[in-house]
Amino acid sequence: MKQSKRTQLRAVIGIGNYKGGVGKTTTTLNLAMALHLQGYRVMVIDMDRQANLSSCTDWDPDLELQGYPTIYNVLCEDAPIPVYRSQSGLYYCPSTSIMNKVDQNLPTLRNPAMKMTRALQKAPDDRTGEGLTDWTADFDYILIDSPVGPQVLIDNILIAANAVLIPINLEGFALTGLQNYLAYMQEIRETENDELVNLGFLISRRGPKGAKDNPTKQDKAEEALRAQYGKYILPVAIGESQAVKNSQQDLKSVFQYPPAASARKTYSTLADIIVKRTKGLIQ
Ligand SMILES: Nc1ncnc2c1ncn2[C@@H]1O[C@H](COP(=O)(O)OP(=O)(O)OP(=O)(O)O)[C@@H](O)[C@H]1O
Ligand SMILES: [Mg+2]
Repeated sequence: MKQSKRTQLRAVIGIGNYKGGVGKTTTTLNLAMALHLQGYRVMVIDMDRQANLSSCTDWDPDLELQGYPTIYNVLCEDAPIPVYRSQSGLYYCPSTSIMNKVDQNLPTLRNPAMKMTRALQKAPDDRTGEGLTDWTADFDYILIDSPVGPQVLIDNILIAANAVLIPINLEGFALTGLQNYLAYMQEIRETENDELVNLGFLISRRGPKGAKDNPTKQDKAEEALRAQYGKYILPVAIGESQAVKNSQQDLKSVFQYPPAASARKTYSTLADIIVKRTKGLIQ
């Protein structure tokens, strides 16, 4: 494995949007792999009960029955964050179907929205045997894959993160969901986390552009989005691609899936942009 470029933790990045199916998990996995392949040490945290990200790691749901901790223990039992390592080189904390109980259990605990923040102040629970003891010294990036709800999980992410990356698609009510999410980020800035940075919007499934005099639906949606939020839209977009879809279905990143060669370049460009935009974020 390449040596890490790390000097210290550069960012805790929430990958979020109130909308489902916009590419949050696909972005988390592929951005994490792109950063890893650039030599950074990357930890991904799955906060979603669907556990889609966890299925793309070496996590075996049976391990939970054998007592191995997951994100549920962190949120509901104040356990330290367990760190496992996938063969792909990514470090991860898995989610589990027990996360169904979070809605019920977490809000009854003290400071339910602060669980991730507190957990990141404790030492990691190293399950790799590599002697990981310190988030700041042992990792470059922590990426958290956000669910669309419950709100208490979104609160946990937005309070613990330094930065948020927002995957979007250009379908349906993209703009409405975004407005709400941005407004909520602002609320969090004004209350618990004044340093929360918006890294930008990633158009995560861009179809082919139409002719100037015959724009596609996506072209029109992008124009409307640019008119309102142009400054936030990242200078790279992920193309709609069967290979990206298939890689995800095969539980792999595009970097482990040969037919997805062209998407690899785009995710690497995304990683370059994220590295630049997170420079100096954690002093
Ligand atoms: N660039 C792309 N081209 C084609 N399909 C894509 C692309 N990006 C994502 N997808 C597909 O879109 C679907 C939704 O993506 P993903 O699961 O990453 O979204 P999500 O926001 O995490 O969803 P959820 O809200 O359910 O967690 C998946 O089937 C995924 O494979
Ligand atoms: Mg997801």
